[in-house]
Amino acid sequence: PRLHALVPCAGVGLRAQANGPKQYADLEGRPVVMHTLDALLAVPRLARILVVVAPGDGFLPVPDARVEVADCGGVSRAQSVFNGVERLLESGADPADWVLVHDAARCLVAPALVEALIDACIDDPVGGLLALPVADTLKRSVEGRAAETIERSDKWLAQTPQMARLGLLHRALAARAPAFVGVTDEARALEGLGLRPRLVPGSPWNIKLTYPQDFVLARALLRSLA
Ligand code: CTP
Ligand code: MG
Repeated sequence: PRLHALVPCAGVGLRAQANGPKQYADLEGRPVVMHTLDALLAVPRLARILVVVAPGDGFLPVPDARVEVADCGGVSRAQSVFNGVERLLESGADPADWVLVHDAARCLVAPALVEALIDACIDDPVGGLLALPVADTLKRSVEGRAAETIERSDKWLAQTPQMARLGLLHRALAARAPAFVGVTDEARALEGLGLRPRLVPGSPWNIKLTYPQDFVLARALLRSLA
């Protein structure tokens, strides 16, 4: 089976408060998504990289023949991913092929980390995701007060890429369409089918640009990792 990457790149970036969608914001002289594509292009096993942008946003310069842009973004991340999965299947991808879904806004992912995910999941019946064990003490709040401390040893923070069989992910997402309630990642959709995606240790550097301060962190990381 082949390996495809699917990059949801169609959000509005409300929380980042950038001047326009955060995935196109400047980071050290280049748009965020270009950093993301560089990392994925550095993984030779990824045969194809489909970037799902918002309708009308097809202006993205394509840096490599392995990259395709489709302006089939939807109103939610899950809808954008679902549309991208359909696009891949329509254009001849095999349902047994793997797809690695990776946020455009997670632009610091190291190619070696993507490779580690692939290595950990390629023989897995379900697939898996990069994730980090929770480090801090977890509290449940009641009216702004700590009411309970929650066991954290079995809690993980989900990152991307998340790797699944194309046909299986399509089925998992179709079952949640059109509202995709609570489906904030691919693993959630698969869990809905009773499946248990493998948790593969990610990296604290693999941050998602979500809030303005994440851009400060990303710049500092890019400079120190360079
Ligand atoms: N995304 C997408 N289509 C959407 C919403 C999100 O393709 N309708 C993408 C974003 O572009 C981003 C990734 O999904 O690369 C992760 O989503 P998130 O960080 O939530 O980005 P936004 O939805 O753009 O930001 P916010 O939730 O703050 O508005
Ligand atoms: Mg969002």
